[in-house]
Amino acid sequence: MRIKVIEGKCAGHARCAAVAPDIFELDDNGYIGPEDKIVAPGDEAKAQRGVRACPERALVIVDE
Ligand code: F3S
Repeated sequence: MRIKVIEGKCAGHARCAAVAPDIFELDDNGYIGPEDKIVAPGDEAKAQRGVRACPERALVIVDE
């Protein structure tokens, strides 16, 4: 599974990282990095919860 970060949408709510810190790493300012997140097999459910947790809809699953 691959997750895309929509440029300019992250507002630093950190809810994604609270759900799955190993998938959604935040930078020193509390924003998510711009690169796609590659989710390891077995981590999909956790990753989906992280995506749904973002109130800005900054995260989008692009490849199941
Ligand atoms: Fe940013 Fe949403 Fe996570 S605003 S830090 S991508 S919860």
